Amino acid sequence: MTKTESVTVPSVAARKGGERLTMLTAYDYALARLADAAGVDMVLVGDSLAMVGLGQRDTLAVGLDAMVHHTRAVSRGVERALVVADMPFGSYQACDADAVRGAARLLAEGRAGAVKVEGGERVLGRIEAIVRADIPVMGHIGLTPQSVARMGGFKVQGRTAWAARALLDDARRLEDAGCFALVLEAVPAPVARAATAAVGIPTIGIGAGPHCDGQVLVTHDVLGLFDRFAPRFVKRYAELGQAATQAMAAFCAEVRSGAFPGPEHSFTMDAAELRAAGLEMPDGE
Ligand code: KIV
Repeated sequence: MTKTESVTVPSVAARKGGERLTMLTAYDYALARLADAAGVDMVLVGDSLAMVGLGQRDTLAVGLDAMVHHTRAVSRGVERALVVADMPFGSYQACDADAVRGAARLLAEGRAGAVKVEGGERVLGRIEAIVRADIPVMGHIGLTPQSVARMGGFKVQGRTAWAARALLDDARRLEDAGCFALVLEAVPAPVARAATAAVGIPTIGIGAGPHCDGQVLVTHDVLGLFDRFAPRFVKRYAELGQAATQAMAAFCAEVRSGAFPGPEHSFTMDAAELRAAGLEMPDGE
């Protein structure tokens, strides 16, 4: 696949064991354009929107309407990457019909190419229903932030023999349920490696070590735009938050001193028209 060809669900699935896949989050048009221009394979409209975009303390507080709204903005900014949209908490837990309707909205209104659903065995029926409706599903196991209440916090998963085996079972079941790819979040590297070997679909790791078929991070973390906390698995590739604060402070200082706006930022007017209006030319113009 050339770098300008659109990334599709089949082209992602075909990358199993091949060139590593990349996925970054975006919640709006501007960041989506930047991520797409950078050449990421997938742009994830994650429900991390709730935390890094909306200032909530977990991901539970963002609903389907908001996810559709942000997905639509992201899709407008993406030309090449596959847009994957998170099914938010509460949009699929109750019944298959809710799950299919919600996923369909993310594709039809949000223009996503696929949805992501958190959970293993407990949500297999929902995933099968969505897949039967011809909507591609990316699975997500390990640390599933929507389960924060049950997990008692954002904790590494699969660290005991029993939990590691359960995670591998979930990975296989999600493949059987029809997922085209699988996010593994915050699991020990050897467990992620075994899960990657156990399934024929690509695994996308976040805090899951180097053996996955791809990696995903939250863009606000990558760019240094979010500093409330940083999980160990985050790598900051830039400090744009500091640069942004400096630029905003420079704006404030120049407005207060009168240095901004300068003549190059202002509009002039024909002198005769000005005189006819009974107005004066400002000093120096
Ligand atoms: O919501 C999100 O951003 C995610 C990624 C961290 C995988 O689910």
